[in-house]
Amino acid sequence: MARIGVFGAGYVGLVTGACFAELGHDVVVRDVLEEKIEQLRAGQVPIYEPGLDELLAKNAERLAFTTSVAEAIDGAEVVFVAVGTPPTYSGDADLSAVWTVVDELPQGERDLVLVMKSTVPVGTGEKIRNALDQRGLTNVGYVSNPEFTAEGRAVHDFAHPDRIVIGAFDEADGDKVEALHAGIDAPIVRADVNSAEMIKLASNAFLSTRISFVNEIANVCELVGADVQKVAEGMGLDHRLGPHFLRAGIGFGGSCFPKDVSALKQLAGNSGYHFQLLSAVIEVNELQKRRVISKLQRHLGRLRGKRIALLGLAFKAGTDDTREAPSLVLASRLIAEGAAVSAWDPIVDAARLLPQAEAAESIEDAVRDADAAVIVTEWDQLRDLARPEIRDLMARPLIVDGRNLLDPAQARAVGFAYEGIGRPVSFGDVLPETPERQHELEA
Ligand code: UDX
Repeated sequence: MARIGVFGAGYVGLVTGACFAELGHDVVVRDVLEEKIEQLRAGQVPIYEPGLDELLAKNAERLAFTTSVAEAIDGAEVVFVAVGTPPTYSGDADLSAVWTVVDELPQGERDLVLVMKSTVPVGTGEKIRNALDQRGLTNVGYVSNPEFTAEGRAVHDFAHPDRIVIGAFDEADGDKVEALHAGIDAPIVRADVNSAEMIKLASNAFLSTRISFVNEIANVCELVGADVQKVAEGMGLDHRLGPHFLRAGIGFGGSCFPKDVSALKQLAGNSGYHFQLLSAVIEVNELQKRRVISKLQRHLGRLRGKRIALLGLAFKAGTDDTREAPSLVLASRLIAEGAAVSAWDPIVDAARLLPQAEAAESIEDAVRDADAAVIVTEWDQLRDLARPEIRDLMARPLIVDGRNLLDPAQARAVGFAYEGIGRPVSFGDVLPETPERQHELEA
């Protein structure tokens, strides 16, 4: 068993640390945030990730947390970099946290392998290799080992990956990293460092492309009266296409897809290639979030003075992550239109995320007197939203289902006007015109 250091106690770092400890390795996780490290030492987990608390508690003996670089590296054979690489204004990845780790590596005699888990532009490994060599750190090997775990199921994904990608300059370094994964049954893809980096970016860009593609199919379905759910089912049975990532909705968000698509587009651009397709993927995704607004307007007329309940704030169910969440764009657009917004999420602190909105303690609180309820995140708690008690609490029984979570027929049977994404709108859905609405239409 090995001694492993992990830089970064975010989603990726904590899951990586806990899962390697579960495999029997000794792990020291290092973060710059003292508060976070103190919390972890006290047995509290600063993020919501199913199964992570249990795994950290179960393997507490093999896990330590520190703010000290020396402690994280002391005795370690392998050091993972799992720090954030957020997008900058230009769309390039911000690698400052990665470079800080590289710069902090002390001089030493002992062999050490630095493993990049963070998503970085292709070519980063080569730059880091050069920097290490220039500092005389030839004892430090470098391996790219991108992570493919999805939030909300990261612990499961780590233990049951589709593949493990290992890109190394030196085969022996790759072997060391491969050995750490003993006990995980998955194909191993050994590659050069540039290709390993590209596998990660290309995979996320392709998954994002599928989502934008199916979202555009959904938008056309609405115009021609087809149902995207059926269309996706029929497409997904073709083994060449497969059923995954064909859920039409409100657009993709999260810490990876938006960032990685834009990073790949920038990378191509910086290298002299215009990646046209990715520009469209990004644009379609931006517009998809905003289509909810026009759906609301179609039913409610002007949104000024209307009350809209946003149900779900996390970028997807099963996580408290709100990075690039469609809820943020929707809330801002609604408020800009002059609507009052109430916001509910089972995990995200609504008051903190959206101070301009009214934080609701419960779904009932959120929809009370609302002119529309918008399902933004596919939380299980929302699956039975279309019930009479909810209808009676609302000023108008209108549901815009950004995740196609509900059964349209059932919602309509209860008396809701219902609009999903890419599903036919029946004539009966259009709400009766109120005198106010008539006035607005005439104005
Ligand atoms: C993703 C990748 O799955 C993972 O491999 C990578 O390491 C990090 O990025 P994550 O961001 O946690 O993981 O979420 P994921 O479940 O993949 O969903 C990404 C976004 O796409 C979410 O906003 C989700 O709602 C959306 N999505 C996903 C769709 O709109 N439709 C789909 O069919 C699938």
